[in-house]
Amino acid sequence: MKTGHDVLELSPVLPVVVVDDAADAVPLAKALVAGGIRAIELTLRTPAGLAAIERVAAEVPEIVVGAGTVVTPEQARQAADAGSAFLVTPGCTDRLLEAVSGTGLPFLPGVSTVSEAMRVAEHGITALKFFPAEASGGAAYLKALGGPLPQLRFCPTGGVTVQNAPTYLALSTVGCVGGTWLTPKDAVAAGDFGRIEQLAREAAALR
Ligand code: 3PG
Repeated sequence: MKTGHDVLELSPVLPVVVVDDAADAVPLAKALVAGGIRAIELTLRTPAGLAAIERVAAEVPEIVVGAGTVVTPEQARQAADAGSAFLVTPGCTDRLLEAVSGTGLPFLPGVSTVSEAMRVAEHGITALKFFPAEASGGAAYLKALGGPLPQLRFCPTGGVTVQNAPTYLALSTVGCVGGTWLTPKDAVAAGDFGRIEQLAREAAALR
């Protein structure tokens, strides 16, 4: 995997995962694999995020693990050291862009407007996260953005569900979609990994 475009090809759905306990990450990742999903974005939204990345990278070789919600240059470096195969940021600043590029890892910087997308493209980056997708105008917005900027490809996330995912996946500018719906908080808390496997199976069948 060399670029953000490779990240977009990993899976039709990139699960965006929040864990409170790093110990949950391994059975959760195994449930995703059992359901046919081979990529996971573990967010740095909780203190358990980095340890979760380390554990999945070490214990579940069948899945490609990346770090999500990377919002500071320090987090970019920590996520790389923890064994992330890719990085995802919800938005981007010049400092953050420099830091994520500096890790040498493939990454998806987050954008939600035409000008943000153009600014990132000026750096030669053409694989992006579109966030927050539904709140920013959804598939209709993303389709319109592809008119003047057809060279850009996206992973829309934020409000994406198994119901609306096909509308995004039908766009030529969408490589994959992302979302938290595959790993509901209550299922993780209850250790209901069978439910996660089932949600993963449905998601894997979307394309
Ligand atoms: C993200 O960071 O990609 C989003 O928080 C995912 O949003 P969702 O919970 O609406 O899927």
